[in-house]
Amino acid sequence: MTQRLRCDETPAWTALQAHYEQVGRHFDVRADFEHNPDRFTQFSQQAPHVFADLSKNRIDTQAEALLLQLAEQCGLAEHRDAMFAGGCINSTEHRAVMHYLLRNQSVPATPGEVAAPVFRGAVADAAMPEVNATLRAMLAFAEAVRTDEQITDIVNIGIGGSDLGPQMAVVALQAYAITGKRFHFVSNVDGDELGEVLEQIRPNSTLFLVASKTFTTRETMTNAHSARQWFLDQAGPDADLGRHFAALTTNLEAAQAFGIRTTFGFRDWVGGRYSMWSAIGLPLAIAIGEEGFRALLAGAHAMDQHFVSAPLAQNLPVRLGLLDVWYRNFHGFSSRSVAPYHHGLRRLPAYLQQLEMESNGKRVDAQGHTLGYSTSPVVWGEPGTNGQHAFFQMIHQGTDIVPVEFIAVREPAHDMPGHHAQLVANALAQAQALLQGRSDAGGHRHFPGNRPSSFFVLERMEPVTLGALIALYEHRVFVSGSIWGINSFDQWGVELGKQLAQDIQPRLASGDVRGLDPSTAGLLRQFRPRF
Ligand code: F6P
Repeated sequence: MTQRLRCDETPAWTALQAHYEQVGRHFDVRADFEHNPDRFTQFSQQAPHVFADLSKNRIDTQAEALLLQLAEQCGLAEHRDAMFAGGCINSTEHRAVMHYLLRNQSVPATPGEVAAPVFRGAVADAAMPEVNATLRAMLAFAEAVRTDEQITDIVNIGIGGSDLGPQMAVVALQAYAITGKRFHFVSNVDGDELGEVLEQIRPNSTLFLVASKTFTTRETMTNAHSARQWFLDQAGPDADLGRHFAALTTNLEAAQAFGIRTTFGFRDWVGGRYSMWSAIGLPLAIAIGEEGFRALLAGAHAMDQHFVSAPLAQNLPVRLGLLDVWYRNFHGFSSRSVAPYHHGLRRLPAYLQQLEMESNGKRVDAQGHTLGYSTSPVVWGEPGTNGQHAFFQMIHQGTDIVPVEFIAVREPAHDMPGHHAQLVANALAQAQALLQGRSDAGGHRHFPGNRPSSFFVLERMEPVTLGALIALYEHRVFVSGSIWGINSFDQWGVELGKQLAQDIQPRLASGDVRGLDPSTAGLLRQFRPRF
């Protein structure tokens, strides 16, 4: 790939700075709605399975046009095309980035719909036979577990990308999940978490899934060893470990060495936080079955096709990623709150934190040069309406501007009278209140308004829409990361703490504080003589 221009060295960046000074800094969305009758149409769009209204954001058509120029000058489309051609865009780990191939399926996303064409090309054609074979094997295994009445509990042991994606999706798609089976997710090395799950299950009716891309992550390995020991202790001499453990990993040898004979693999071109579409999705496949899992993939694939083929000006992941750049680098907003008005999406904020902050929380560009501008915002949130009774005070009247992202579905999965209308009314009202503010009262009762938000509307919370929504977020993170010139697919920042923990752990037992800073030494003494 040719050397790409750094975003802050482009003419568009300079023009955006000038535009921010002249218009953006004091831009009032309310005034623009008054002058521009087309504002809602201009800043809202339908993408596959997701309708997005961006019109309540502090952006005007001129800023969006300049952001699109920035995308062109930074080579965004070429970078995206390099990813979809299997280029080695994860340069610091010398890997391609091809999680989109895991959902490269020519199945209609909804019955009657025309299937999106599959991605072809030398790299895709070479990879797909293995992708499809693994998918078939994993779905067949999932079906076998679903019909196995003896198995009542599925325990996923994994962390980060090997936990957050499948967990978020199993929770979100509860209405589609098989009845009679319980799903547990154990991620933390804190023994309380595993202990709590072990208290609820019996060995002969449990399937443990050890989910780890590397099969070396210490927390996961510690939990997996403890679970195995518990299983052997409880099940007795005839214990059939092979029937009750399966591994989801790229490191099949390590899984076999652990004693697991049922393994489902994937390749190193699937990043951990992009892996819920791979074998890592097995708990979800067990929960929602083959049809549901294939629908999830189809929804994501439809979004992939949109990202690849829609003109940049009508390309939702591109528009969102550019808005993120506008907010972060010109307005200086340092966080974004996600407010899913859907109980099923209560793990979405945690999932998005890893997706966005582990991908784009970088201070050097892909070549290792220090950046002179900000990157990933802090992403945080809680489902509505709960957030309204907690931190929305700060979003309405605090000193910082926090763009909010509302997500709501048209059709609920339940039939409780009145609940859904109340929920949706609250989401709409919060977005409206943020925009309008309240000037008829002063002091404590004054709401400044002009507080930005986006609003996503999904038909219902079902596999196909969830797949599209998550792929939308993945690509949006790609877009801002690409503009910033960073490698969104590595995570070197997690390494140092891991290494130091290995140094500290034996010190807890020995009490040796030599070479430690005074604070760490003092704290370590607080834990003695416990160890
Ligand atoms: O925290 C770093 C990380 O490597 C994540 O990127 C990853 O999702 C997680 O650890 C788990 O890794 P693994 O799947 O290899 O156990």
